[in-house]
Amino acid sequence: MVLKTPRDLFVHELKQMYYVENRLVDVLEELAAETPDEKLAKGFSSHRDETRQQVERLERVFREIGETPEEAESGALDGLLRDHEEFKREVGSDDLKTPFNLTAGIKTERVEITAYQSLITLANEIDFEGDVKDPLEANLDEEKDTLRSLEKIQKGSSIKNVIQNLL
Ligand SMILES: [Fe+2]
Repeated sequence: MVLKTPRDLFVHELKQMYYVENRLVDVLEELAAETPDEKLAKGFSSHRDETRQQVERLERVFREIGETPEEAESGALDGLLRDHEEFKREVGSDDLKTPFNLTAGIKTERVEITAYQSLITLANEIDFEGDVKDPLEANLDEEKDTLRSLEKIQKGSSIKNVIQNLL
């Protein structure tokens, strides 16, 4: 599809987020299962539940603008997933999964936050109504909350202990 207008770009970015959120439902499940640190694992699994709702909100946005929900590949997410696969092939200590997965989660949230901010900027300029903007704002708020709690774990003592114990 040739993208010419801000609306085309909005739909394209929406499709990419639909791809991202759909992938993340499975990825977060996997992260929760493979992360040794209980607090972090729990964080991943509760964000997986939120992500299921985020997928539904995106479907609502598609409906509101008269488009069919469709996915468009996101190279940013695919790259993060490739890094994860490569790490899993090479990791030789289970405890290293905690700091790696924490960083992977933070990177993913930052990518998502930037993408939702872009969608909201476009929606404002295109003059889309609250029915379109509210679900995007709700997803953005959840991503920001998730980033904050991951950063709290990153600054906390449990992650430092995991790293110290491996030295
Ligand atoms: Fe998300």
